[in-house]
Amino acid sequence: MIKIGIIGIGIYGRVHLDALCQRERYAGDIKVVGFAEINEKRRAEIEAEYGLKGYPDHLALLEEAGPDAVTVVTPDHLHFKVVMDCLDKNLPVLVEKPFTTDIDQAKELARKAREKNILLQVDFHKRFDPYHIDLKLRIQEGELGRIEYGYCWMEDVLKVGTTMIGKKTWEDQGSPAWFLGIHMIDLSYWLMGLPQPVTVHANGFKGKLQSMGIDIYDSVKSEVSYANGAVITYDTSVILPDSHESIVRQGIKLVGTEGFMEINSQYRGARGCSTAKGMETPNLGMMYRNFNKSGETIKQGYLNESIYDFIENLSFLENGGALSELEGRYASPEQGIETTKIGVAIHKSAKTGEIYNITKW
Ligand SMILES: NC(=O)c1ccc[n+]([C@@H]2O[C@H](COP(=O)([O-])OP(=O)(O)OC[C@H]3O[C@@H](n4cnc5c(N)ncnc54)[C@H](O)[C@@H]3O)[C@@H](O)[C@H]2O)c1
Repeated sequence: MIKIGIIGIGIYGRVHLDALCQRERYAGDIKVVGFAEINEKRRAEIEAEYGLKGYPDHLALLEEAGPDAVTVVTPDHLHFKVVMDCLDKNLPVLVEKPFTTDIDQAKELARKAREKNILLQVDFHKRFDPYHIDLKLRIQEGELGRIEYGYCWMEDVLKVGTTMIGKKTWEDQGSPAWFLGIHMIDLSYWLMGLPQPVTVHANGFKGKLQSMGIDIYDSVKSEVSYANGAVITYDTSVILPDSHESIVRQGIKLVGTEGFMEINSQYRGARGCSTAKGMETPNLGMMYRNFNKSGETIKQGYLNESIYDFIENLSFLENGGALSELEGRYASPEQGIETTKIGVAIHKSAKTGEIYNITKW
């Protein structure tokens, strides 16, 4: 039985909490021993709702609850300190994307994890979408030939810009490219077999959110070239009209010498309209409901699968497996460094208009 702690229960921390509590109930191979949340009011609410002990910060959780491993769901710019403190205490970590928003911090975390031979995994959940997994296998088998170019898009409705990103105290870090783009950057990098990113150019657009008092990019368009010769364009935005039929429009197209594949990662063919919800295209790959053997409703999909993969890696290690045997089978800190480099270069380029060669960063 692996004892798990969760650090930071804001919007996405609840996804971790729900997924892990569900796993404890139905699989029984883990126990959620508590969570850390610095916001006192939120901590009390979560304690009451989940019947779990909350701790005032991550250090208190580590010292008092004694987890065997943790998931870190704090704001992007706070990943570094929290993850470093956990690694210092020899704890395996699943950290939310982006790994960090600072290259030196990313490198330091990777160094620490390797020095201590500890599992440090990044929660890049698009790798667990079955459509994306099948595409990866097709690319590996050579069906598309050598990838020449591609296009990824991830565009959220305005209320994400005004609430989930824009209202955060870490809004200086808030940008559609960090919040959304990093998913697609990791996805394409992983699909192509992790080629080294080479050059980065981006344009950032401001106006809509600024007019509402929120000084972050509405949209960021970027282009990244890779050592395999491919050039991928990433369009990200948080100003889609709120009347759009889903919170997000997202997808990927990769074109190779022998063929192409295009996946609409949002609209999977399920579309509906109800008085309660209006028009919607539920992304059932991300989350769908199922029945377990007792007939109870459980949630499945790539959101949970990505978190459960961390648990499965922990079990593998607990049962005598070596971390080296997992290499190439999880989003490692070194892979996190490459995506952080791209994210940093995108934001530099959006400011200066320059093209950056990041191979030596
Ligand atoms: N995978 C995804 O699709 C996805 C979606 C949304 C957010 N995220 C990521 O999840 C992370 C959290 O995002 P969010 O939207 O939930 O942010 P949030 O601001 O809503 O929540 C973060 C929480 O962490 C708490 N916190 C900060 N420092 C802490 C500490 N030392 N100990 C305990 N609690 C602490 C804050 O009080 C806050 O409640 C970010 O990195 C974000 O990019 C991922």
